Amino acid sequence: MATPLVGLYPGSFDPITNGHTDVIKRAAKICDRLVVGVAINTGKDPMFTIEERVEIVKEEILAHGHGIEAKVEVLAFRGLLMHYAREVGARIIVRGLRAVTDFDYEFQMTGMNARLDPDIETVFLMASEKHQFISSRLVKEVGILGGDVRPFVSSRVAEHLVKRIAEREAARGE
Ligand code: PNS
Repeated sequence: MATPLVGLYPGSFDPITNGHTDVIKRAAKICDRLVVGVAINTGKDPMFTIEERVEIVKEEILAHGHGIEAKVEVLAFRGLLMHYAREVGARIIVRGLRAVTDFDYEFQMTGMNARLDPDIETVFLMASEKHQFISSRLVKEVGILGGDVRPFVSSRVAEHLVKRIAEREAARGE
């Protein structure tokens, strides 16, 4: 019997968008097991804690149904992605690719990761047309500036975002 194909889909997921969920669903069709790796150290100042980001991703997967939750596991990771990929037995890293602007960053990261561990391939899933322009960073910006984030994230994530933005504003006395 062929070895099961384990994929690792890493990211900051701060928070998970409809684009991420689409990649998870599609990657789950390709892999026998998919680990969604939520990076503890993002190099950015995340809006949600690592526990919250993991929990919100789990909520999304359960809400989507289609039985993908049987194949998909959501775990936090720290340190080098390629070390973690080995740890979970991943043979492929899955990344979503949107507009050409993603290319340079992804190209550098893939090249570096291939040097670190040439046995693990990075595969890209092109973002579906309606998700081309969604990014967690822009969704947060839209939310902070009072725009409607519901076209880009699920209603659950939108609620988490609105709540967090209000908490942050209250803490700053705005
Ligand atoms: O969703 P993001 O922010 O684009 O995801 C970036 C992520 C988490 C995949 C990337 O920063 C990463 O792999 N971090 C782990 C640390 C690491 O391995 N860095 C070297 C990358 S070449």
